[in-house]
Amino acid sequence: MIEIVHHTDESTPTTPCLVWPQWDDEALPGELAGALDPADWHGRRRQTALVYGVGAARRTVLLGLGARARASLEVLREMAAVATQRVAELRLEHYTVRVPALDGHDAAQVTQAWLEGALLAAYRFDRFKVTTRDNERVALRTIGVIADAAAAPGIAAARAIVDGVVLARDLANRPPNDLPPAGLAQAATDIAARRGLSATVYGPDVLRAQGFGGILAVGGGSANEPRFIALEYGSPGPDTPTICLVGKGITFDSGGISIKPADGMDAMKMDMGGAAAVLGAIDAVAALGLPLHVVALVASAENMLSGTAYRPGDIVTALSGSTIEVLNTDAEGRIVLADALSYAQRFRPAAVIDLATLTGAITVALGPHAIGLMGNDDALAARVLAAGERSGERAWQLPLWPAYHEMVKSDVADVRNTGGSRAGGAITAAAFLAHFAGDLPWVHLDIAGTAWTDARPKPYTPRGATGVGVRLLIELLRDWRAG
Ligand code: BES
Ligand code: MN
Ligand code: ZN
Repeated sequence: MIEIVHHTDESTPTTPCLVWPQWDDEALPGELAGALDPADWHGRRRQTALVYGVGAARRTVLLGLGARARASLEVLREMAAVATQRVAELRLEHYTVRVPALDGHDAAQVTQAWLEGALLAAYRFDRFKVTTRDNERVALRTIGVIADAAAAPGIAAARAIVDGVVLARDLANRPPNDLPPAGLAQAATDIAARRGLSATVYGPDVLRAQGFGGILAVGGGSANEPRFIALEYGSPGPDTPTICLVGKGITFDSGGISIKPADGMDAMKMDMGGAAAVLGAIDAVAALGLPLHVVALVASAENMLSGTAYRPGDIVTALSGSTIEVLNTDAEGRIVLADALSYAQRFRPAAVIDLATLTGAITVALGPHAIGLMGNDDALAARVLAAGERSGERAWQLPLWPAYHEMVKSDVADVRNTGGSRAGGAITAAAFLAHFAGDLPWVHLDIAGTAWTDARPKPYTPRGATGVGVRLLIELLRDWRAG
């Protein structure tokens, strides 16, 4: 874990490296201007220059931020990530940064955003690099922050949030042989023990006794038995609303009997990205001590093929008592989520938010830049969309009109698990879920396009699992009352 050191004294402490972020429409301070040829410095975003012997810093990385007028918290996250990358190239273990000011945001907000970008950019998943560990890599150990005392809550928030995102990335990066449903349950109970949460884990016997027919159907083809996981932070009260966070926890999705093509099937180790996000979020909620009752529910199974696997044509009875006609065993996420959404009803929550790598169709619609949002409550949807904007994890709403509900009606059961064609695939998946959300205020976040990256769309998101959803959820929950 990278340590953060807060310097409230304006003067630069002794440091192996000072990062000096600079707006392009402001003049360089004299000392730095003297160390550079002005022709070499324009200060546009991402430009860096390395100079030696300025003040108490062994070296200074000057970092261009572009125009102040075009800045935002998201620009600062990205520029902070560039700073971390540049320091990593220098193979330094420590650096100190003078956090810039940003109009319309206080020191805590700016420092939080800066540290989110700086810390998340340093993330690596290297626990399986055993004999080929890159021994040239020097890991960053401390980041010094020169900022007003008012920045302190931002440092604490960044710490909690980044730890939650790292937890989520680690879970989603773990390969399916290392993280079957029982392993995901173990990870959840570890969080609960560390944070003092209550934890409930159901294996196949309890799932059968209680009628979790969806999770059992999807998990039936695998030797790795399914699990249902509930973590609970806080307790409900007149001033303490209950929020349920529901995560899809498919530890590997082969497609089942409706098998997926071989190409890229390995990526389906991340099909528990929704579960990872809700576990990372409840970890951060506990670290921040938010005045809420938060319940994280995870429906976990491995979707495999075998003589005991569920089949296309099967009709299964979910926890709610509703029946599901299985048209395609690869539309498994919605089937396990059906049970989890029904289970959420017993908490009488003020809101239910599910996160799921649910459909390839959401990637077709939105690409890697937005979470797909659908729901049954416009006020809740608006709050989630706003939290997405502020956190840098943006979501975009798609409609969920009655015509879409028609598409998941079955001739022989209450609902069917596909819309019958690929048309509107992300929405028909949500329409299926809506059946099980009932009349609870509910929002569904389809993170299939955003939970994993091969292309590094943002400098603070290395290749692999992104941990998407944690920052959005914490932004939403931190000002739940204010919203
Ligand atoms: N886990 C997949 C969705 C997915 C695709 C996640 C790509 C991440 C990246 C999901 O279970 C699935 O297979 N969905 C099907 C549904 C279809 C059979 C109705 C899909 O999107 O093709
Ligand atoms: Mn699938
Ligand atoms: Zn899946």
